[in-house]
Amino acid sequence: MRLFLMLVLVGCGVWAQTQDYDDYDADGKKASASNSSATVDARGHRPLVKGREIYLTNRYNPSISSSGGRYQGRPGTTTVTGPQEQEKGEQPETGGCTHAMEEMGVLCPNGCELKTMIQKQEKNVKTSIGELRPQVNELARESNNIFNYVNSMSNNLRERQRVLSENSNIVGQYTDRVEEHHAYIKETVDTLLPSNIKVLQGVLDKIRLKIQKLEKAIQTQTESCQEPCRTKCPVPVVSGKECEDIFRRGGLDSQMYLVRPDPLLPAYKVYCDQTTQNGGWLVIQNRMDGSVDFGRRWDDYRKGFGNVALEVGKGYCETPGEYWLGNDKITQLSKMGPTELLVEMEDWTGAKVHAHYQQFAVQGDLTNYVLAVDRYSGTAGNCFLEGSTELFGINRTMTIHNGMMFSTYDRDNDNWNPGDPSKQCSREDGGGWWYNRCHSANPNGRYYMGGAYTRDMARHGTDDGMVWMNWKGSWYSLKAISMKVRPFFQSR
Ligand SMILES: *[C@@H]1O[C@H](CO)[C@@H](O)[C@H](O)[C@H]1NC(C)=O
Ligand SMILES: *[C@@H]1O[C@H](CO)[C@@H](O)[C@H](O)[C@H]1NC(C)=O
Repeated sequence: MRLFLMLVLVGCGVWAQTQDYDDYDADGKKASASNSSATVDARGHRPLVKGREIYLTNRYNPSISSSGGRYQGRPGTTTVTGPQEQEKGEQPETGGCTHAMEEMGVLCPNGCELKTMIQKQEKNVKTSIGELRPQVNELARESNNIFNYVNSMSNNLRERQRVLSENSNIVGQYTDRVEEHHAYIKETVDTLLPSNIKVLQGVLDKIRLKIQKLEKAIQTQTESCQEPCRTKCPVPVVSGKECEDIFRRGGLDSQMYLVRPDPLLPAYKVYCDQTTQNGGWLVIQNRMDGSVDFGRRWDDYRKGFGNVALEVGKGYCETPGEYWLGNDKITQLSKMGPTELLVEMEDWTGAKVHAHYQQFAVQGDLTNYVLAVDRYSGTAGNCFLEGSTELFGINRTMTIHNGMMFSTYDRDNDNWNPGDPSKQCSREDGGGWWYNRCHSANPNGRYYMGGAYTRDMARHGTDDGMVWMNWKGSWYSLKAISMKVRPFFQSR
């Protein structure tokens, strides 16, 4: 009887496991939107452990050049050269699953990420199967043993019946009971055990089928990723040093353009926003649907990653993709002269705010891309200079981004116990960023669908979402955010 119960339990366990394979949540964590106290808890900082930690406000003060603008104010719109005829030719992208990082070509937007996920799933499933198989074999073996045991018991019983037949009157009662037990055990062995094993085998077969399906899906993905992805992104004939230059040369549509800030370096593709606040903005960062993973290494952040622009049926690349332009390029752009920064963001109800810094500079790789901003205006809150207004004193200081070096999970330059590998902001907060100890703004954090998220949903219990604390607090991840730069000039 105990064994039977055990079998049923194991059977249930197997069922439960098969249910898990249908759950494609890579983290195995269920998103449960709850209004726990965590949702109002300001979390961007890492409070000091009293008596054991000190916090050194290492802040660098790189000079931001503010004189000698590259540009005069724009002439009146009448004198702006009209949009030139744009020759549009097919531009095959190098692509497939290997991303030509230098050129920021477009890669399969879904296929490749999907493939990685499926391969991850496959490994999990195979491991589980590997663990299940010996269990089922063991069960089959045990039921065999029991069967043999009952058989030999039957023989014994028969022998005993023969020996004791003369004394049947005395032993009769005893024999009845033994026979009763025997019948029960025999029935168990003949019917219940095999049917349980049959159930288990059915489960195994189901799992095998799922594996086959997964393998097929992986194969399909692999095949489709072997073809280099092609986009119908025509490169506009207008190009320039950056997007303001392109605007002044008549490139008035917001779309992908080729820019070449430094004549000694190759040109590259960027998305130019030519409509917001008079245009001329070069997008250095964009998030809008979570299609690109921003939890990347130093080298990726240095060179840039993601999809510059997408073509959505209009014949040209008018929709920006999710991307990080690359720290080297950002440095280079900001070094050309006074530069301004516009950070625009949107919540999941469609509300929009922005933060505008009239001065923006990023130092080179030798100083780990120290960030310098100044002269804020806007509606989102001044996270970069003031830190989180929900926090006070040293806690707020810990969340200021101005003057910070850039950190990624494999390169720790933050202000949280430097040198302690277990105290790294970028490891906990999801992306590469100018972390202090740690953040009030986290535009490169994890993308959470729907906005509100909780400590339980975060990988490390920290507010690792796409956060702008001075607008929505620590536990709201924005729907979209973008960062754009433009040469600063006094407009008329
Ligand atoms: C959470 O709180 C907000 C405002 O305090 C409210 O609008 C929302 O309905 C709450 N959600 C749940 C799941 O209780
Ligand atoms: C800093 O934060 C910690 C915990 O979050 C809190 O205990 C402490 O009082 C805060 N300090 C200040 C100055 O607000």
